[in-house]
Amino acid sequence: MSASEYLPSSRSLRTLSRAARDCQGCELYKRATQTVFGAGRAGSQIILVGEQPGDREDLEGLPFVGPAGRLLGEALENAGIDRELVYVTNAVKHFKWEPRGKRRLHKKPSARELAACRPWLEAELEAVRPQVVVCLGATAAQSLLGRNFRITQQRGELVSSDLADCVMATWHPSAVLRAPDKPARDRMRGELVDDLRRVRSVLA
Ligand code: URA
Ligand code: SF4
Repeated sequence: MSASEYLPSSRSLRTLSRAARDCQGCELYKRATQTVFGAGRAGSQIILVGEQPGDREDLEGLPFVGPAGRLLGEALENAGIDRELVYVTNAVKHFKWEPRGKRRLHKKPSARELAACRPWLEAELEAVRPQVVVCLGATAAQSLLGRNFRITQQRGELVSSDLADCVMATWHPSAVLRAPDKPARDRMRGELVDDLRRVRSVLA
């Protein structure tokens, strides 16, 4: 099972996101409210790839609109990158969660779910044709750069890839929010902003 049989023959962002609403390429659609497809324009210079929609994104149907999205928006602003020029998406398009009291707790997608959802991400990359792909966190990095990629060692490095002119992996904004204390949080936030500044500096 994978998303591939749900991909439309016409591959514009509009037709892709419409088709993704009906995807049943893995089990995750069953417990989620809706598909959260990427947002932004074809031709965006940068594509940011997160892990999967969170609770707020699941309810609103848009990527990075919750607390992690707020932190990401601030980091982009600090780096001098206009969010309007960035296409934002996730490695997996449905929210995976387990109940914890009244809350829905985020659960990491499996390698199988990542692989099942990859056709959507590949189609987005082809439709957007960005100069730089930024993986937010280890899940996106491992989906796009392979399972041996280690974000703690290779964070912020510009690596060459056939996905785009440059690919970089940096901290996931949720990892910054989950940092154990304020000094760690401030350091990670600073590194995220520095990495995004470097991304901006390589844009043509
Ligand atoms: N975390 C993600 O990885 N993606 C979102 O869209 C929101 C939170
Ligand atoms: Fe389809 Fe991806 Fe949702 Fe699975 S997570 S049902 S592959 S859109």
